[in-house]
Amino acid sequence: MAAISHEFENQIHAGKTEAGFGCYMSERIKALEPIAKLPRHVAIIMDGNGRWARKHKLSISRGHRQGTETLREIIRHTDDLGIQALSLYAFSTENWNRSAEEVGALMQLILDFFASEIDELDEKNVRILILGDKAGLPEKQRKTLEEAERRTGKNTGLRLNIAVNYGGRAELVKAAREIAELVKAGELAAEDITEETLSDHLYTRGLPDVDLLIRTSGEMRLSNFLLYQNAYAEFVFPEKLWPDFTPEDYDRALAVFGTRDRRFGGREKEA
Ligand code: FPP
Repeated sequence: MAAISHEFENQIHAGKTEAGFGCYMSERIKALEPIAKLPRHVAIIMDGNGRWARKHKLSISRGHRQGTETLREIIRHTDDLGIQALSLYAFSTENWNRSAEEVGALMQLILDFFASEIDELDEKNVRILILGDKAGLPEKQRKTLEEAERRTGKNTGLRLNIAVNYGGRAELVKAAREIAELVKAGELAAEDITEETLSDHLYTRGLPDVDLLIRTSGEMRLSNFLLYQNAYAEFVFPEKLWPDFTPEDYDRALAVFGTRDRRFGGREKEA
C-alpha cells in the first residue's frame, strides 16, 4: 500500500477548520478512497458539550442534549460505512462528581436515547453492549440498558458499545480479580495467563482492539477510556466541539486514519 505523506495528512486536518475548504477536501478524500483502509473498531470521546452550551449561552443539559443529536448521526454513519465496532464514552466513573443537575440530565438523556432509538437500532441489526458497572446505576437506567443488551444480543451487525459508569482502570481491576479467582479455584495456572486471558475478561471480550480513537474539542487525553484496548490505536483530535461534529468531520478523521502508517512496534517494510 502506498504511503501518504504527512503533508497530505496535515492538509486533511486543515480541512476541519478552514472555511470554504470542505468541497475541495471532499474531493481529496474521494481520491483517498481506493487506498484508505477503514478501522475495524472506532472509539470516540465525545468532548465539548459544556463549552458548546457556554458558547451558545445555554444550559449544560442543553449542550448534552445537542451532543445526543450528534451521537445519533454518528452511529448511523458508522453503520452505513460498515465499520465493525463503535465504542462511545457516555458517562465515566468520574462524571458522578458533576452537579446533581448535570448528572440527572445525563441519566435522563440515556433513558430518552434508548426510548427513541432502540427500535431503529434493532431493525438495523445493531448489537448493543454496555461497557461499565451497570450495578452502580439507578434502577431505571440499569434496566433500560440491560433490556437494550438483551433485545439486541443476537444481532450480527454493528457492535455498538456505550460506556456508562465506566473507568478503564476499574475494568482492569475487575479483570484481575476474575482471573485471580480462576487461579484460586485451580482452574487456571498463573503461568498460563496471557494477553488473551486478560482481554477475555474485559467488557469488550471478543471485539478487535481499538484502531482509531477520536476525541473532539481539541483535548488530547485518554481520560481512562479503554486503556488496554487503545494500546495500538491511532489518535485523531478534531478541534470541533462534539455537538458541532458532523459526519463529514468523521469522514475526515477516517481519512486521516487511512494515511497513518501502523507498524505496531515493528518496522516499515523496505520498498
Ligand atoms: C463531555 O463533554 C461529554 C460528556 C461527559 C457526556 C457525553 C454524553 C452525551 C453526548 C450524551 C449522553 C449519552 C447517551 C448514550 C444518550 P463535557 O461536558 O465534559 O464538555 P466540556 O469539556 O466542554 O465541559
